[in-house]
Amino acid sequence: MAHAHVSTSRGLKGVLLLVFLFVDLGLLSCAARVEKVTRQKMQVNKHLKRLNKKPVKTIESPDGDKIDCVHISHQPAFDHPFLKDHKIQMRPNFHPEGLYDDNKMNTESKGKENTMHQLWHVNGMCPEDTIPIRRTKEDDVLRASSVKTYGKKHHKSVPVPRNVNIPKSADPDIDNESGHQHAIAYVEGDKYYGAKATMNVWEPKIQQSNEFSLSQIWILGGSFGQDLNSIEAGWQVSPDLYGDNNTRLFTYWTSDAYQATGCYNLLCSGFIQINSNIAMGASISPVSGFRNSQYDISILVWKDQKEGNWWMQFGNGYVLGYWPSFLFSYLADSASMIEWGGEVVNSEPDGHHTSTQMGSGRFPEEGFGKASYFRNIQVVDKENNLKTPKDLGTFTEQSNCYDVQTGTIAIGVTTFTTEALVKTRIALDPVVHVRPPVI
Ligand SMILES: *[C@@H]1O[C@H](CO)[C@@H](O)[C@H](O)[C@H]1NC(C)=O
Ligand SMILES: *[C@@H]1O[C@H](CO)[C@@H](O)[C@H](O)[C@H]1NC(C)=O
Repeated sequence: MAHAHVSTSRGLKGVLLLVFLFVDLGLLSCAARVEKVTRQKMQVNKHLKRLNKKPVKTIESPDGDKIDCVHISHQPAFDHPFLKDHKIQMRPNFHPEGLYDDNKMNTESKGKENTMHQLWHVNGMCPEDTIPIRRTKEDDVLRASSVKTYGKKHHKSVPVPRNVNIPKSADPDIDNESGHQHAIAYVEGDKYYGAKATMNVWEPKIQQSNEFSLSQIWILGGSFGQDLNSIEAGWQVSPDLYGDNNTRLFTYWTSDAYQATGCYNLLCSGFIQINSNIAMGASISPVSGFRNSQYDISILVWKDQKEGNWWMQFGNGYVLGYWPSFLFSYLADSASMIEWGGEVVNSEPDGHHTSTQMGSGRFPEEGFGKASYFRNIQVVDKENNLKTPKDLGTFTEQSNCYDVQTGTIAIGVTTFTTEALVKTRIALDPVVHVRPPVI
């Protein structure tokens, strides 16, 4: 098949060249362009072949996604040379202590979460021993500035709070570069072995397709120099990455400050998925409405301190998989900082600050049902205990646009019109109805 395709393109090119020669020699540049487009197409197809593994079964999602059920041993992770002989760990050796304490008090939400499913489930499920992978389309890759940048975050898209010690080698303007803006809560100054939060899910408006908006946890290791290690998970709206404005579950990792290593979801080799129910990059639905039903998702990332792997759990019971320790330098030991909050890209369209929203698009002081929130913020300590952090700092580059507040009830992140509350305790639960969304 591949050979047939190549020769067809060559044949086509030859024909076009011939025709143009007869018409006008000056149009040769047109032939050159055809060649360039053909070359790009071949490059894209090669990349798609690498990313889209042969499925055992494919399920069409109502939102237009194709979900490929790929045999667990054929997933992208195993393209990594270091994982050639890797034996997949099918379950974590242990969870952090205290994880299920909250749920004992709240069996109702636990019951509900069991019935939670992703949108594509209405058309089928992936068989055992396979994992669901959102298929990358040609258009997805073509929207990126190049095959190389597809699935990658821009450099320096991590928030650096002002009072955090930054080595002299690092760019002092790191957080403002390329228009990335944040509103976060953070802890630092200790060794962290995991983090957890329940984050409110919204569908923020994005002004233009090269901008995005997200809510996530950052697990950071090292300084903010060229060797920054980061594991990230949450939800995002990113028209360039996904081709729509849907709110989607995502992960990210890098071991060199977003330069050569890492990617979103399973768009490069690294993360090893073991779960057959949840697809990374799949749409979350429903999302919260202003003064209406609120939906939130729980994410836990923790380190197996014996094996070194970093595990991720979604909701109460979906262990998605793990990042092997060898991917990282600093995080091979522990994290030095944890951040929770929102990020947007402000590309200053028409020379003005973007109207792209963070979270709900409302400021934190508006409170529950209006502003977006994080609740149940926790970190994992050396003894593998989940703990509520004592000193939560907050940071935002431009609080008149995107702001954050902490409190026993809430810490918020917001925009213009924006967003999120971050709650350190579960105190909201008895008063409000927070339902897990169907993903
Ligand atoms: C996403 O939303 C923007 C406006 O917020 C709109 O211009 C654009 O067409 C939408 N994109 C898609 C793919 O629906
Ligand atoms: C980021 O840029 C904005 C707008 O130019 C400015 O008001 C703000 O002070 C900058 N923040 C930092 C941390 O440099």
